[in-house]
Amino acid sequence: MQAERNSNDVADLNAQAHALLKANDRGGYTVPNHSVYPFQWNWDSAFVAIGFATFDCGRAWQELTTLFKGQWSDGMVPSIVFHSNADHYYPGPAAWGTHHEPPTTGITQPPVAATAARKIYRADPDRTRADAELRALFPALYAWHHWWHVTRDPDGTGLATVVHPWETGRDNSPDWDGPLSAIVPTVDVSMLRKDNKVVDPSERPTDLFYNRVMTLVEEAKALRWDGVAVAKSLSMRVCDLGIQSILLRADHDLLALAETLDFTREAEQLRHWIETATKGFEWLRAPDGSFRSLDLRSGHLSPCVTSASFLPLYARVASADDAKFMATLLHEWEKTTPYLVASSDPYHESYDARRYWRGPLWIVVNYMIAEGFAHYGYHDLAERIRASSAACVQRHGFREAFDSHTGQGVGGRDFSWTAAMWLEWLNPQKLG
Ligand code: DGY
Repeated sequence: MQAERNSNDVADLNAQAHALLKANDRGGYTVPNHSVYPFQWNWDSAFVAIGFATFDCGRAWQELTTLFKGQWSDGMVPSIVFHSNADHYYPGPAAWGTHHEPPTTGITQPPVAATAARKIYRADPDRTRADAELRALFPALYAWHHWWHVTRDPDGTGLATVVHPWETGRDNSPDWDGPLSAIVPTVDVSMLRKDNKVVDPSERPTDLFYNRVMTLVEEAKALRWDGVAVAKSLSMRVCDLGIQSILLRADHDLLALAETLDFTREAEQLRHWIETATKGFEWLRAPDGSFRSLDLRSGHLSPCVTSASFLPLYARVASADDAKFMATLLHEWEKTTPYLVASSDPYHESYDARRYWRGPLWIVVNYMIAEGFAHYGYHDLAERIRASSAACVQRHGFREAFDSHTGQGVGGRDFSWTAAMWLEWLNPQKLG
């Protein structure tokens, strides 16, 4: 466990970030955190790979390669790969019933891997290894993007369908309150939960949320996890602005890799997907000028702005006017939540300062938002996001998330992706 710390121990934090990644290494993959999330999580691993690439590119490639061992034959890359026994986590393999080997969940997570692969490829000092690793990984990355654009967009609308809040990584975001509200739970899993035994329950999703999301798992099991059937008929079908943005950004990165490898057919297909997905964003614009997630069943945009609303910058799909709008909006948020960027609108009634994705800031999301603002020329704002993120980690350690009012840590401790982002982005020594 990490103690609260002073803000002047940068070198010490570098060493602790390395030590944490080592401690959470289970031999080829890294657990997000040893108590709450003891297996390999999809987008966690992609960010962790970016962290490894700051000091060990061989290990960075391995993190991605191990993740793709869980890839399904239809291209889907699951949210969790249960490489080892799963008794101390709920829901484990039996609850998912996917009968996959290695055991996996039946849902996916934000597709950060292609972006991570491009970063590692650039960083790797061993060019022979970099070429070999990229060549070996590319078909698996491409198959996953194909799955997103075809299986999860069966009608070719340019909007990727998400069928479960856990796919978004922003599990209990207010974005999913509307889509989940119609789901009458058919299961009661409150006694099976383990997460709220190791983390303060007020910082975790509610039992009602768990009962609803496990009802979705039961629906998918009844469809034998058939990709298109799941995409077309689950009780929750949304376009998550987070995934839509992260996917488009990753498409651009994968396209750059395809061009590097001279894979012309794949490059052409990627250009087509990029064009269609870019057009899809027009469906995600609210009348006030913000971007929001869309409930594909009801046709309603989310009633609330979240941290995902800044990610079109990261996807490079925002116009200069959009960027200005987002910068103005974030200035407003900053007045009440000085530690940027709250995961949900701090002025909205659904805001909850400490409950998981309903308020606290997440360093990996900040990393993407700051990169986006910097790209659009908002360097001061990008630096304020970096500096306040760094202050949280320096004062409170590698926590899962942080309270946007006070900077205090919330959720689990000793988080791999927070350590990885310290090494890649927050560490002031990186600035020079
Ligand atoms: C959990 O168990 O809380 C995860 O976020 C699901 O992926």
